Formats: sequence, structure tokens, C-alpha cells
Amino acid sequence: MKNKDRINWGIIGLGNIANQFASDLLLIEEANLVAVASRNFVKANDFAKQYNCQKAYDSYEALFVDDQVDIVYIATPHDSHAELSIKALESGKHVLCEKPLSLSYKDAVRMTEASKKYNRFFMEAFWTRFMPSVKEVLEKVNHGIIGEVNYVKADFAFYADEASGGRLFDKNLGGGALYDIGVYPLFLSYILLGIPKEIIAKSVCNENGIDLQTSMILNYENAQAILNASIVSESDMKAVIGGTQGHIQLNAPWFMADGYSIVKDNQEKIVCLPNLGKGYTHEAIECHDCIRNNQMESQFWSHQNSLELSKIVEEIKLQIKLPF
Ligand SMILES: NC(=O)c1ccc[n+]([C@@H]2O[C@H](COP(=O)([O-])OP(=O)(O)OC[C@H]3O[C@@H](n4cnc5c(N)ncnc54)[C@H](OP(=O)(O)O)[C@@H]3O)[C@@H](O)[C@H]2O)c1
Repeated sequence: MKNKDRINWGIIGLGNIANQFASDLLLIEEANLVAVASRNFVKANDFAKQYNCQKAYDSYEALFVDDQVDIVYIATPHDSHAELSIKALESGKHVLCEKPLSLSYKDAVRMTEASKKYNRFFMEAFWTRFMPSVKEVLEKVNHGIIGEVNYVKADFAFYADEASGGRLFDKNLGGGALYDIGVYPLFLSYILLGIPKEIIAKSVCNENGIDLQTSMILNYENAQAILNASIVSESDMKAVIGGTQGHIQLNAPWFMADGYSIVKDNQEKIVCLPNLGKGYTHEAIECHDCIRNNQMESQFWSHQNSLELSKIVEEIKLQIKLPF
């Protein structure tokens, strides 16, 4: 860290999520966006100006060797996460890598091993884990507020026009519903119920084998999760956590919930917990805390958490026969 008070960020891959993340970084006093990199210099320069960033690069590698950068945020398509994360870690940078960590469990292992080998903080950008409402709900559930959790229902769905192209429908970039958004309902089930005993997944795919929608049942010893991801339909995107003594509903869209309600004994309690900015602030602040405390991983979304989720996703990938 070059400046005692601030953490210096670099961002690579200046698309949709990079813009959202950069605008949230501006809300954190201790965050300093010092460098951005794109494959296209004009784009990098424009992005840098928009977010008060001092340096723009026309290659990701140039940013990795910038001494001023403490942590790199990797915002490229899924297929490149593994190689870019490992390169950044090798270059001595801490890394926050967008979800999903990689397109295979094996690559996810390589990424977490690189973090240990180069002694650098590394985290999958599972921003939902750091939302104030999700954090609070998990704490309360762990303390038994609704008894034993036996049921989780969650989905993530939006309509995307296949004709408009883009990475969502590109099998070379890990396109499809499962890897892009299916990981969210799987995350909720995993964080509440752990590793399932059995998974049943069915998809509707396009002619290239990309999953347009995927429904999943996760079977546990005493519980079930019913999950869906779709890029061809909309839904209410509420998540329900059902227990033996009540149930909790996360506000829609649940993966960035600004509150929740608990129903117990036929009484409903509504809790409002707004996010700071778009909600990417919370994961960024967690990175700051971990780096300051010399932690290689977050206790809230650890390497093991990412690896176990990656294994679950991989099993579904095999069941629905994705072409990557
Ligand atoms: N946490 C969240 O809420 C959230 C939301 C959306 C997406 N994501 C994740 O973030 C990642 C990026 O998603 P996005 O929606 O931001 O995608 P996007 O808008 O397509 O942007 C991705 C950027 O990656 C770079 N890139 C590098 N290699 C590329 C290639 N072969 N094809 C296309 N772009 C390439 C490009 O930046 P340059 O041209 O500047 O190099 C591009 O602008 C995905 O892994 C996705 O799962 C997370």
C-alpha cells in the first residue's frame, strides 16, 4: 500500500460492471481509483476521465506492473478470469475477481492456490454476501430466528435479446444463464444449507447449447432448494427462506436486497437496510479491511466458499451439457 490512508484500485475490462463498480468506488473515501485498462486506449482514457482516475492503459498487463496499484478489480468475461487473476497475483497485486470465479473447478483451485503462493488477498466478487440485509439475515438465521431452515426458493431472471449479441450468448465467453446469474440462487442455497447431497438440473438451451433457462433442485438431508435462472423471461426475484418457526423474504431483487421481512406466529416484521450506492461498495470495503489486516481471504466469502460453489456449478454444467 503506497498511501497509508487509501487503498489504490486498478480496474481491467471496462464494460457494464466496471462502470457500476467505479461509480461506487467514488462513494468510499478510502478508495482511490488510480489506473484503468482496456484493450482500447480511447475507451480507457474516456473511462479514466469519467471516474477521476489518473492513469489509463491500453493493456491489462501494463496495469499489473503499475507500482501504484494495490488491488486489481477484474471485470472481464468469465472465460478470462482465471488467467488474468493469476497474472495479477503473480505481479504482486491483490485481486477482486468478478463472479463466477472461472468456468471450471480446476481453474478456481489454481486461482486460490496462486493467492496463497504469492501471498496476496484474493476474493470472488460475490457482492450479495456483503449486502447489509443479506449479512443480517444470515446472522439471524444462524441464531435460529426461524428455527431450522428446510426450504429455500430463489431465482434470477431477465429478458435478454439474443439478436443483440454480446457475451451472454457467446459460448466462447462462458455465456448462458447458469454461469452468469444461476450462481446467485446457488450461492443463497449454499450459504444457508451448505453442499447438497443431490442436484437435479434441467435447462432449455439454444442451438449452440447455451442455457437460456435452468431450473435446479438441490436436495439436502432435511431440506430442499428450488432455484431458477433465466435470460429469456422476467420474474419477481424475491427469495424465500423457510424455517420450522417462520419464514424470511428478501426484498426484490433479492441479490441486492434493501431489506427483508420476517413472518413468525402470523406476524410480519419489515426491516429496511439500504445499500450504499449500487451495493458494490460493501464488497470493496471488505477488500480494504482484509488488505489492512494482511488477510489473504475474507471470512465472509472465503476461498473454500468459492471453491465449493464452483464445484456445485460444475456439477450442473455437466448435467446440462454446456459446451465449455
Ligand atoms: N457482480 C455483478 O453484479 C455483475 C454484474 C454484471 C456482470 N458481472 C460479471 O462481470 C463480468 C463482466 O460482465 P459485464 O456485464 O461487465 O460484461 P461486458 O459489459 O461485456 O464487459 C466486459 C469487458 O471485458 C473486456 N473484455 C476482455 N476480453 C473480452 C472479450 N473477449 N469479449 C468481450 N469483452 C472482453 C472488455 O473491456 P475492454 O474492451 O475495456 O478491454 C469488455 O468491455 C462477467 O464475468 C460477469 O459475470 C457481475
